[in-house]
Amino acid sequence: MSSVFDELMEEIKTFLREFHSSRELHEARMRFLGRTGKLTALYKRMKEIPPEERPAFGQRINALKEEIEARFASIEQDLRARELSERLASERIDVTMPGRRRAQGTLHPVTRVRNMLIDVFAGMGFEVFEGPEIENDYYNFTALNTPADHPARDMQDTFYLADGLLLRTQTSAGQIRLMEKKKPPIKMLSPGRVFRSDDDATHSPMFHQMEGLVVDKNITLCDLQGMLDEFARVIFGKGSKTRLRPSYFPFTEPSVEVDVSCHACGGTGCALCKGTGWIEVLGAGMVNRRVLENCGIDPDEYSGFAFGMGIERIAMLKYGINNIKLLTENDVRFLAQFKD
Ligand code: PHE
Repeated sequence: MSSVFDELMEEIKTFLREFHSSRELHEARMRFLGRTGKLTALYKRMKEIPPEERPAFGQRINALKEEIEARFASIEQDLRARELSERLASERIDVTMPGRRRAQGTLHPVTRVRNMLIDVFAGMGFEVFEGPEIENDYYNFTALNTPADHPARDMQDTFYLADGLLLRTQTSAGQIRLMEKKKPPIKMLSPGRVFRSDDDATHSPMFHQMEGLVVDKNITLCDLQGMLDEFARVIFGKGSKTRLRPSYFPFTEPSVEVDVSCHACGGTGCALCKGTGWIEVLGAGMVNRRVLENCGIDPDEYSGFAFGMGIERIAMLKYGINNIKLLTENDVRFLAQFKD
């Protein structure tokens, strides 16, 4: 019988080569120690042994079993360690690698300037009021002292819609809507889209305006210029000044064009300001008495000023943009240049 043990031990030795996986190892273990394994078979042969030899036989099987188990255990330990280190190596994460960044968008220059303007005037106590983009003739023209036969209607080429409606040509329409509802003191800021049949490098059929309206007792042109000086400093730089030139709008009297000292040359004259040192940035004036009357506000008790500027124009001047189309093409290479 003893040769059986020796054979078995030999077989195990040759069998215990390198294992590549826990599964292979498990199969090998079953081959010897499993229910139908070779060692188990030896136990079953116990009854063939004469009773007096059985204790010795049993001891030998047990000893062999322990040895086999010990060998498997040590192989298993090695295999586990190797499998773990392989897994760690394959799942390794390089925490020092730079992360994948998501490109961050930027605010559109028109939005930026609009926000800046709102900041400036909100700081002076103005409230934002937005009127409708589709208007009727009354709010866009008539109530603003521009009746149907008025030559000033030609100043703005209007897109007319059905039923007497039109796309507003100016945010001034909002002045009327506000003054119908709210009585002085009024300090209103009205940003929004406006539409005119006009199209070249500096004009687009849709653009944005920022309207301002102040109505109270004893409001003068000086108040207007004081506020616009502050606006010029914030948008175009600390040393900026404004200058008023006489002009004409039907809804203001007197009317002015407002120039800002050229931020490119500081007023000495350059290509941007065409050598004049000044750049025209907006229209303004004292609210015409007839406009106040149209809204039920007594012009003998109250006076006011209004101004309106093109946001695209301000953005183009501020950022040195030479074609208004760049503001609507939305080319990311252009837009990405406007970072905080
Ligand atoms: N609404 C005028 C325009 O679009 C600008 C303006 C507004 C002028 C307010 C005076 C007062 O040209």
